[in-house]
Amino acid sequence: MTQFQTVPTQPIEGQKPGTSGLRKKTRVFMQPHYLENFTQAIFDAIEGVAGKVLILGGDGRYFNDRAIQVILRMAAANGAARVIVGQGGLLSTPAASNLIRQRKADGGIILSASHNPGGIDEDFGMKFNGPNGGPATESLTDRIFARAGELTEYRILEAHDIDLSRPGTSTLGEMLVEIVDPVEDYAALMQKLFDFDAIRALFAGGFRLHFDAMHAVTGPYARRILQEILGAPAGSVVNDQPLPDFGGGHPDPNPIWAADLMARMFAPDAPDFGAASDGDGDRNMIVGRGIYVTPSDSLAVLAANATHAPAYAGGLAGVARSMPTSRAADLVAEKLGIGIYETPTGWKFFGNLLDAGRVTLCGEESAGTGSDHVREKDGLWAVLLWLNILAARGQSVDQIMRAHWAEYGRNYYSRHDYEAVPSDRANALIDRLRGLLSDLPGQEFAGLSVAEADDFAYLDPVDGSQSARQGIRILFAEGSRVVMRLSGTGTEGATLRVYLERYQPASARHDLPVEEALAPVIAAAEQIAQIEGHTGRSRPDVTT
Ligand code: G6P
Ligand code: ZN
Repeated sequence: MTQFQTVPTQPIEGQKPGTSGLRKKTRVFMQPHYLENFTQAIFDAIEGVAGKVLILGGDGRYFNDRAIQVILRMAAANGAARVIVGQGGLLSTPAASNLIRQRKADGGIILSASHNPGGIDEDFGMKFNGPNGGPATESLTDRIFARAGELTEYRILEAHDIDLSRPGTSTLGEMLVEIVDPVEDYAALMQKLFDFDAIRALFAGGFRLHFDAMHAVTGPYARRILQEILGAPAGSVVNDQPLPDFGGGHPDPNPIWAADLMARMFAPDAPDFGAASDGDGDRNMIVGRGIYVTPSDSLAVLAANATHAPAYAGGLAGVARSMPTSRAADLVAEKLGIGIYETPTGWKFFGNLLDAGRVTLCGEESAGTGSDHVREKDGLWAVLLWLNILAARGQSVDQIMRAHWAEYGRNYYSRHDYEAVPSDRANALIDRLRGLLSDLPGQEFAGLSVAEADDFAYLDPVDGSQSARQGIRILFAEGSRVVMRLSGTGTEGATLRVYLERYQPASARHDLPVEEALAPVIAAAEQIAQIEGHTGRSRPDVTT
């Protein structure tokens, strides 16, 4: 016997979605009514879910399984027709995006705090993606926040837990619950995009891969696609068991948090190609033998070589990058004679450009790359495109990078993060910079002369929407750049991100250590922003 309940509630402070959904400490999400309120706010903000089809899954972190049961009961009580759930409650973010599109669903809820650690004392998160498969637009997240602030009740069904462990269809009240293999449709999509025969031949020829799934959601995806379908030897995919606490690790694929992968790839017997993905499978990290590829460079190389893959053989419509991402991709787009778009940080800003067919590839410095095949960034997609290119060119990652820099020049690049800075101090630093902007041009810092300075504002060319105050940009006369902004994904205090870039033309040196190449830009950033004075830190907490 199932019973619908209307539960009285009141608004809970702070349910404001950030760059990528609502992220909070797990215990915050576990408070009475917290998850329920936010879920009801999403349902109400999309004008209810009566008769609708939703996709539901997450990255398997702590509380994922409990949250799924609650959301299912609430969807049923709110009249949803069908919810399609990944087996075991798992769906990577790109696979969820694909399912929304394949099944023509009305949207999806993805449970993840992406690359943030998981566990009862770590982070949890929840985001809504629309019918195009992409993250909710700002206007929708604003509506969700507004709704959360006025909620007086939510609807839920009293029922037993649904068994998520086996594929199949069951009912919850009147609603159908369909449990699907989380990998199948995604693997089929990848097979359509890439030359799997060429990649298979690469592995058959002894090419060695090391993919670190970081005990996060891509484990089952990577095992199936890379090992079972493409023939990479068993053991090529490591840490492939998704765990609620990611094995105690920090599932963020960068040289700091994927230190094991870095060590492996810089060892004398390193494999040919190394890669990693994050908690929910949308980020990627690419490492060749003895060479780390920055996400900004990766986007540029993928753009320059995409036609090697069947899905992109006809050429690219255009390329988009987030503003802090280096301008390496711009040089490729210019040469190809295609459009290049600069958007604010956050994958959601690519959605309109992709939907309108203006761009085919997108990328961000925060280890995200993707294309028009879904509406999220896609970690394994990037790995497969790299493998396709390596197979087609028959060269190593190192050879490909050197050839790329020799053709386009090199954008030396690094990001310095100052984490958990008291919010008032971080805001003071940014506010002070805003006040300085108009005086900066013409001034010299650490030998670099400022050419332009602004607070990035974006006008969406497709729907005309505007997003102001998206980050301080300081351009120097000789092509270097500093960008500073506060992270929109943290859960404690503020994180100041300082993005440093220095361009060296095709004829210049491309083998300098990155810190050395960037030294003047780092010094200029400190002089202009007085980072130490504001944060009390003489060095960043994390450098990537
Ligand atoms: C998430 C979004 C990305 C974005 C990143 C930036 O991962 O999906 O699109 O680039 O956050 O995070 P930040 O902490 O710099 O705001
Ligand atoms: Zn992620």
